[in-house]
Amino acid sequence: MTVEVRALRPEDDRQSFRSGDEALDLFFHRYAGQNQFRHHVGVTCVAVAKDRIQGFVTISPGQLEAPTLPSWRRMPPYPVPILRLARLAVDRAVQGRGVGRLLLRHCFELAERMRDELGCVGVLVDAKPNAVDFYRLYGFEEIQAVEGESQQRPRPVPMFLPLAAVPPKPR
Ligand SMILES: CC(C)(COP(=O)(O)OP(=O)(O)OC[C@H]1O[C@@H](n2cnc3c(N)ncnc32)[C@H](O)[C@@H]1OP(=O)(O)O)[C@@H](O)C(=O)NCCC(=O)NCCS
Repeated sequence: MTVEVRALRPEDDRQSFRSGDEALDLFFHRYAGQNQFRHHVGVTCVAVAKDRIQGFVTISPGQLEAPTLPSWRRMPPYPVPILRLARLAVDRAVQGRGVGRLLLRHCFELAERMRDELGCVGVLVDAKPNAVDFYRLYGFEEIQAVEGESQQRPRPVPMFLPLAAVPPKPR
């Protein structure tokens, strides 16, 4: 099955998507479109096969205080640019078939483009506790909370992957 990853379009059918995580599904059904097309606060990329959305990832540029980073001693003493992976979910019907990996790989490519055109030192994610091991597989490491305590429960785990540590693309 060919899966294409591309930016969300206004005409995409988002309502039939179900990841099993109610908050992520609600975000995708109700807010992903207006955030992207009206407010421009983030972009959602979708994995699509046969006109059906299999998964999505929402990203936006961000910044981090350098001392938060594992390799901050080589960084300048002011906030540095990162790509924030805000949300990631795969439809329950196709979980475990490589769609999450594909979307993550797409984020790495975007972060590398951002590095080359605007500046970017790595990818930051607030991981749900059940997804921490998923991000670890790709080299993300837990870092100290950067913006105070999150009100979300269960509390997300901030994790960071320096661009220099992005795993090579398998052939
Ligand atoms: C977490 C999620 C995005 C993973 O997507 P997926 O398409 O099911 O994952 P993939 O099939 O691409 O898996 C890639 C690898 O990650 C592993 N993996 C997948 N989910 C995992 C999890 N929750 N914990 C640990 N490893 C996981 C797979 O076993 C696979 O390993 P392999 O390459 O050694 O075979 C998906 O299960 C999901 O949407 N879950 C509900 C919402 C959620 O928790 N989102 C994360 C928000 S931070």
